[in-house]
Amino acid sequence: MRRCTGGGGHGRQLLLLAVLACSWVAPAEAQPQQAAARTDPVEAAALNAILQRWRTTPSTTWNISGEPCSGTTVDQTNTDGIDFDPTINPGIKCDCSFNNETVCRIVSLRVYKLDVVGQIPAELQNLTYLKDLDLRLNYLT
Ligand SMILES: *[C@@H]1O[C@H](CO)[C@@H](O)[C@H](O)[C@H]1NC(C)=O
Ligand SMILES: *[C@@H]1O[C@H](CO)[C@@H](O)[C@H](O)[C@H]1NC(C)=O
Ligand SMILES: *[C@@H]1O[C@H](CO)[C@@H](O)[C@H](O)[C@H]1NC(C)=O
Repeated sequence: MRRCTGGGGHGRQLLLLAVLACSWVAPAEAQPQQAAARTDPVEAAALNAILQRWRTTPSTTWNISGEPCSGTTVDQTNTDGIDFDPTINPGIKCDCSFNNETVCRIVSLRVYKLDVVGQIPAELQNLTYLKDLDLRLNYLT
């Protein structure tokens, strides 16, 4: 760690310089790392509820128990809707540009051809920013 000492005996001027140097360095060190954007809690809960109801196990590349909008789900290399890595199924895509890039919302949900039997759950209505929904080839009523 850098010590900010003004010693040396060259008097006031050196001390002032040292203070200036330290106060110039300090802001860069003190600047908080931009906190990672968090999934909107209502959406995270809805997603968990939906996947639980359907008894579908999400890909290990995304973190359903903790922060669903992390890892591959926020990968911006292919943002053309649901057409992302086909091996991620079920899968989601998130848009983390909300509230000045502090909130992520789920914009795509894919549960494709997983022979899910059940209903379209009411929780789906809480994914209010969903743009793409791919539920093809399941047994949903
Ligand atoms: C999942 O998210 C939780 C909470 O944010 C975090 O503690 C954990 O390390 C994450 N796990 C992975 C595999 O990213
Ligand atoms: C958005 O975040 C940036 C960086 O954290 C900050 O400088 C800016 O003031 C914020 N804007 C608003 C409108 O909060
Ligand atoms: C939707 O979110 C609200 C919280 O904002 C919650 O009270 C409600 O139960 C949710 N609806 C469903 C169907 O999960």
